[in-house]
Amino acid sequence: MSAEMTKDSANGVSVVNGGGLVYEDKEENDSARPEDLSELLAAGTKEVHEQAENTQFVKDFLHGRIRKELFKLGAVALYYTYTAMEEEIEKNKDHPQFAPLYFPNELHRSEALARDLEYFYGEDWQGQISCSPATQRYVERIHEIGREDPVLLVSHAYTRYMGDLSGGQVLKKVAQRALKLPPTGEGVFFYQFDNIHSNKAFKQLYRSRMNELELDTSTKDRIVQEAVRAFQFNMEVFQELEEMGKTIQEDVLDGGPIHGHMQGDISK
Ligand code: HEM
Repeated sequence: MSAEMTKDSANGVSVVNGGGLVYEDKEENDSARPEDLSELLAAGTKEVHEQAENTQFVKDFLHGRIRKELFKLGAVALYYTYTAMEEEIEKNKDHPQFAPLYFPNELHRSEALARDLEYFYGEDWQGQISCSPATQRYVERIHEIGREDPVLLVSHAYTRYMGDLSGGQVLKKVAQRALKLPPTGEGVFFYQFDNIHSNKAFKQLYRSRMNELELDTSTKDRIVQEAVRAFQFNMEVFQELEEMGKTIQEDVLDGGPIHGHMQGDISK
């Protein structure tokens, strides 16, 4: 992948030659109006986004400090989350306050996650995974919203898909390098949006679709509040993963101890 492409799709982070990390600024949009939902969401989640960036689990992952067993548990958490979200999106795909954001071919991740889990756990992957308590709470909230207040699916879709489109390529490379995954994409299909050619252009389309939704001010407010909650659910999952990481015995991982140089810290 060229440096330019890596930079374009980065979550504000680029992997540059030599393996250092470079943080970039957020995109500016001159034609934005403050009452646009995309602007309200970006502004309203700024603080919680910073908190999410600074969780230990996220910082460690970004620097390639992740062990395979923990990465697998992260994929399991994502699988339950996206399965719930995409199930509710399917049920509400004709809802006028969600329909313009319905992009199953471009965005949906549960099948990619199923392929990753099959790679990690084998054919019987479904029998081997279970939903953690923090993930369960996130999943229950998504179902509750799908049933009772589907306009708030906008918040959950925004938080996950826009984040994935911002960071996917970098996180994919970090994981492949740290975990020595094959270059053919097994284990990181989640990060690969095959039906999106330009993440940047797609994010612009998604923002303009959000801005075209017919929403009054108080509904926009509720959507922003729910997005903050969605970030918090994600942070609770990260915290839980971090705790689980402490209890995983290194010598039961990957058939042997992991040595420092194998952890793939790309900041070195
Ligand atoms: C967008 C950085 C983690 C959700 C962005 C952007 C940057 C960034 C620079 C702006 C990209 C652009 O304008 O095109 C980071 C870094 C992270 C991180 C450095 C970790 C160290 C997360 C997490 C989530 C998340 C954990 C949620 C689970 C989002 C969302 C957007 C976004 C929803 C879209 C913002 C918008 O344009 O309205 N991120 N991010 N990010 N990120 Fe993150």
